[in-house]
Amino acid sequence: MHKIKLNFNVNGKDYEILTDAGSRMIDVIRNDLHLTGTKEGCSVGECGACTVVMNGEAVSSCLVLAPQMDGATILTIEGMQGLDLGKNLQASFIEEDAIQCGFCTPGFVLSAYALLQKNPGASREEIRDAVAGNICRCTGYIPIVNAIENAAEKLNSK
Ligand code: FES
Ligand code: FES
Repeated sequence: MHKIKLNFNVNGKDYEILTDAGSRMIDVIRNDLHLTGTKEGCSVGECGACTVVMNGEAVSSCLVLAPQMDGATILTIEGMQGLDLGKNLQASFIEEDAIQCGFCTPGFVLSAYALLQKNPGASREEIRDAVAGNICRCTGYIPIVNAIENAAEKLNSK
């Protein structure tokens, strides 16, 4: 298959890679970079399991073609440990029992990160809207929304 060269930054690290021109961003993240915290569920943009933050926006990485990554700044779940808001969200998900099987969790955390970075005072309704594209089969959603609300409260009490 035709290969293309891509330059981008993931989790604060610059990469230059050669990859198949027809790859999707999730393929590059999981197979080329070996960052397997980003999960693939539906593959068609409906479950949110593959959500990453690209240039400040939450996106479904199964819907982004690899060439669109060129020049982009991307955050995945592996990058959360190095960021205050990322650590805050991970701690809040644990405190609120918002993780069961965990398959959906990286996607929810990244959607929440994109929201709270832009809107630290997000209301419960805005939180619900921001994660409307993320599906969880285990928790019933309430603990997840509580966790994001908890993270926002901690952010605003600093
Ligand atoms: S795997 Fe991308 S939205 Fe479901
Ligand atoms: S915790 Fe299992 S799908 Fe959400």
